[in-house]
Amino acid sequence: MSFFRGSRTLITGANRGIGLEWTRQLAGPADRLFATCRRPNEAHQLHEIATSHPDTVNLLSLDVAEPDAIRAAAEQVRDEAGALELLVNNAGINGGGKQDRFRGIDQETMMDVFRVNAAGPHLMTKAFADLLRAGATGQGAADGRATVVNVTSQLGSIANAESDTWHSYRASKAALNMCVRLQAAALRDDGVVAVALHPGWVRTDMGGTEARLSPEESVEGMMKVVRNLSLEDTGRFFDHDGKELPW
Ligand SMILES: NC(=O)c1ccc[n+]([C@@H]2O[C@H](COP(=O)([O-])OP(=O)(O)OC[C@H]3O[C@@H](n4cnc5c(N)ncnc54)[C@H](OP(=O)(O)O)[C@@H]3O)[C@@H](O)[C@H]2O)c1
Repeated sequence: MSFFRGSRTLITGANRGIGLEWTRQLAGPADRLFATCRRPNEAHQLHEIATSHPDTVNLLSLDVAEPDAIRAAAEQVRDEAGALELLVNNAGINGGGKQDRFRGIDQETMMDVFRVNAAGPHLMTKAFADLLRAGATGQGAADGRATVVNVTSQLGSIANAESDTWHSYRASKAALNMCVRLQAAALRDDGVVAVALHPGWVRTDMGGTEARLSPEESVEGMMKVVRNLSLEDTGRFFDHDGKELPW
């Protein structure tokens, strides 16, 4: 049985870009798919997927910068599904991207980006930890594990930080990478694998039109990486093609 078949999954930032593509590719095989975003009423493409998979896909409102909303989403998933085999912490913001240079950094931008890109995924993982523990032995679990995918970026790699661009974003993703190691340490004994996954350079609103990969190619690659994980891989940092990346 494929890892994703029969799984209970939650995705953040599911309304566009890479998150929408995770939703599209998992809507078929998943048992339950909680596709979350800030404004479900405006998420037309997500509604189309949900309409085609009425027994599988639930749209939930979730802003990952709001701890109360995170707790409420965890309660709702607990009531409706009882466990999760896969949590995809995908939502992210770029904080000005290329134009965010050393001389222009400001506290407000940095804190906003940290709240969404680093604190958000860590608080999500904490809020859903009990459900993931239950998922590690659940119906859709493969090899006795549940999985947390933290969609990070190679721009968060300290080993490769050389240019004066993407300051807040790089720092936030480096912080997220540390959070992944901490999630791995906290959840290893519960059969929950936490990894950092770089999706590649992808043609989305964030990645731009020149990017190398389509969302389909990126998510297909990440799904293959996730499918092949074992408990020994927890706390590791991979590219979408399975190559290990330096911290
Ligand atoms: N594209 C690339 O080349 C690339 C490369 C490396 C890493 N990544 C990472 O991949 C992930 C997805 O990126 P993408 O390219 O798909 O970006 P995108 O097209 O800009 O989409 C970002 C998604 O995050 C959501 N989001 C932003 N703030 C949120 C919040 N506070 N709560 C909930 N959702 C929120 C957005 O929702 P709204 O519509 O409500 O804003 C949107 O669904 C991000 O973590 C990004 O850092 C992307």
